[in-house]
Amino acid sequence: VDADLCGTPQLTTASIFNSAVAAWAISAAWEVGALDELEQHGRIDVAEFADRKQLDPPSTAGMFRALAAVDVVRRSATTVAPGWNFSEVFRTRSFFHWLMKGNAELFGEMSALLESARRTGDFYSRDSAAIAYACREINRFCYDASFWKAVDGLGFGYGSVADLGCGSGERVLQLLRWRPDARGIGLDIAQTCVDEAIAAAHRSSLQDRASFVKANVFSLPRRPEFADVDLLTCFMMGHDLWPKQQCIDTLQQIRDRFPRARRFLLGDATRSVGLADDKLPTFTLGFELAHDLMGTFIPTVTDWESVFEAGGWRLVEKYAIDVAVGETIFELAPIRTGSSRC
Ligand SMILES: C[S@@+](CC[C@H](N)C(=O)[O-])C[C@H]1O[C@@H](n2cnc3c(N)ncnc32)[C@H](O)[C@@H]1O
Repeated sequence: VDADLCGTPQLTTASIFNSAVAAWAISAAWEVGALDELEQHGRIDVAEFADRKQLDPPSTAGMFRALAAVDVVRRSATTVAPGWNFSEVFRTRSFFHWLMKGNAELFGEMSALLESARRTGDFYSRDSAAIAYACREINRFCYDASFWKAVDGLGFGYGSVADLGCGSGERVLQLLRWRPDARGIGLDIAQTCVDEAIAAAHRSSLQDRASFVKANVFSLPRRPEFADVDLLTCFMMGHDLWPKQQCIDTLQQIRDRFPRARRFLLGDATRSVGLADDKLPTFTLGFELAHDLMGTFIPTVTDWESVFEAGGWRLVEKYAIDVAVGETIFELAPIRTGSSRC
């Protein structure tokens, strides 16, 4: 036995297995409202909870048992209460949901996706609606504070916004709530996201000022409503623009399609550099492996900084957030011919 392999293992095989089961349970417990109830009330009566939510009692008890196996909850005969890991799991619950529900099929097909010959055409599938649901929350705790700082510092009151890869549509809706005279458009390649965003606009009574359209950012149409857009945003999908030349071409096309854009706030994860395998924080491993499986390059901050000018944009400000996966917001201004400032 290699000397490095001697000593006490950090994890037992059983804890690895049970953690995998518990990750599914965390995702489900968030969706059925159990995590929120535990956060608010500090205790759940399991039978009462299952009855009230019309859930199968044995499966519900099993879900809580899986959470108890990793000390997210502690169980008594009839109730559960927060365990040692509860508050951190509660804070990062959307990462679990992104992984277990949004990317279930992707990871389930890992062995097939490893085979080079099978990586052609539409070779993988993910749950766009679940990813949008998780991302709405990831935005809240990762990006929002820096996003609003950037919006506050724009130096102009935006009148028309466009969000590229809008997912749930929440960013457009937030920006319209903030400026009651502004209009907004969200673009997304997934029809399920567009439908959900339209429904969310109606729920917020913003349907008269917000529109959501199915569109691919690689081949953006020319639309009359793009002409007035002065603020562009794009969150958690910038990496989809890569590899490098494709990213540069798309940045140029975006500038062309939105000729009056004064600022482009581009927020995304960036690839980790030099992290030891046993020091990876929550999310990094799942995020980076998922994108390797999909064949999507995740750029580093330095990679990003190498494309802006060629893409027709000047980096005005960089907000390093770094909650889990090197989240960064780049504030960009268009480079106008004959002037370096806008
Ligand atoms: C991780 S989600 C982020 C959603 C949203 N921006 C947010 O911050 O919550 C990425 C979104 O980009 C969309 N997307 C991916 N590639 C796209 C493309 N080529 N054109 C338009 N949308 C795209 C996906 O459908 C998905 O809704």
